Amino acid sequence: MIEEQRSQWGSKLGFILAASGSAIGLGNIWRFPYTTGENGGAAFVLVYLICVVVIGIPVLIAELSLGRHTQRNPVGAIKTIVPKGAWKILGYLGVITGIVILSYYSIVAGWTIGYIVKTFTHTTSDFGQFIADPKSEFGYFIVFLGLTMLVVLGGVKEGIERWSKILMPLLFLILLGLILFAITLPGAEAGIKFYLSPDFSKITGKTILAALGQAFFSLSLGMGAMITYGSYIPKNTNLITSATTVALSDTLIAIMAGLVIFPALFAAGMSPAQGPGLVFNVLPQIFSQMPAGTIVGVFFFILLAIAALTSSISLLEVGVAWAVDELKLTRTKATLALGFAAFIIGIPSAMSQGYSSFFSNLHLLGKTGFLDIVDFLFGSFALTFGGLILSIFIGWKWGSAKASDEIMYGLDKNYKPVLKIWSFLIRFVCPVVIFFVLLNIFEIF
Ligand code: PHE
Repeated sequence: MIEEQRSQWGSKLGFILAASGSAIGLGNIWRFPYTTGENGGAAFVLVYLICVVVIGIPVLIAELSLGRHTQRNPVGAIKTIVPKGAWKILGYLGVITGIVILSYYSIVAGWTIGYIVKTFTHTTSDFGQFIADPKSEFGYFIVFLGLTMLVVLGGVKEGIERWSKILMPLLFLILLGLILFAITLPGAEAGIKFYLSPDFSKITGKTILAALGQAFFSLSLGMGAMITYGSYIPKNTNLITSATTVALSDTLIAIMAGLVIFPALFAAGMSPAQGPGLVFNVLPQIFSQMPAGTIVGVFFFILLAIAALTSSISLLEVGVAWAVDELKLTRTKATLALGFAAFIIGIPSAMSQGYSSFFSNLHLLGKTGFLDIVDFLFGSFALTFGGLILSIFIGWKWGSAKASDEIMYGLDKNYKPVLKIWSFLIRFVCPVVIFFVLLNIFEIF
């Protein structure tokens, strides 16, 4: 009896760690602060929190249930439910989105690795100088992408999961320490106010679109990563509490990252709306003023690089699972081909941070620079669009009743009312809200 309970716990914890590993990454510590900064601060944070609860958690439960039910990759999962027709395009969209996100995600993760070295060697160049040097930028990009491919290839995921158990709490503790330091800096109050005291007049259609996109990105939703991870969960896992745990820890880490960045940013008199370079400009400022800042900095960037790795493997895994199952490629061939594709797609993003003026100054959809544009199109728009079609697919085509049966497996009757709320959210609230939010993209055009 004791044995059995322990092993159930073990598997449930393993799954929560893997899913949190996918969710917690650069999205929380790099993307969340810079998107908050670009969208006016606290009002954005509030909309973000609402998006996580009302849309994010229901879609997360939906993806996990489809994965656990079909035990397949996203394309296969959809085909299992509806063998013919256009629905499977949603699966292909997920595969493509994953590879495109991986392309620039690996670049930013490469910056993180570069910053481990930079902090350690006390190199004083600023972020602009650091990334304008293509040799080191491409070097770190290739190193990170290579690491991602190695993990996906070798299937050392379990090792990484076990490490996450130690590393994620460490990331939490180090963030806590950084918060305490940042909020006591002179001039920090302005940052706390910007971050926590909402100015509702700043909420526009564009803010809501950015917040919803960020919720999808941060929770790894809308491209099938959580369908794929769901396909590995044992039947007896409580999907509702697992999804909630993953979403809450992911959100906590993001909110904490903001509490480090904004006080320090305002204390240093920098602009919050500076785009993807934001945290790479602010963090070294903090470490340089802090006692034992070098050690803390090196340690922090190492943890961030590992958090990025546990996310990037899920971006690649979706495509690899599809190529292995559906195209019957070997795992090695699939990993090499998709990793290479991510590298090629990443080249213009890598050149868009100052090295090539064409890619750096490209302007589209209110974004400047290739990386920022691709991040908006795939990291926000494609994931949100994927979430729209997915909620229609699961709520209506597969049907929320069948999905509810899957979710209810092994749960007691007390969960029935929760399932009712979930069905309502996934059938009505998610599709309608996402649809109207997406319309705002035309406002930006
Ligand atoms: N959620 C990851 C992060 O926040 C990124 C990611 C997006 C991973 C989509 C998988 C799928 O860093």
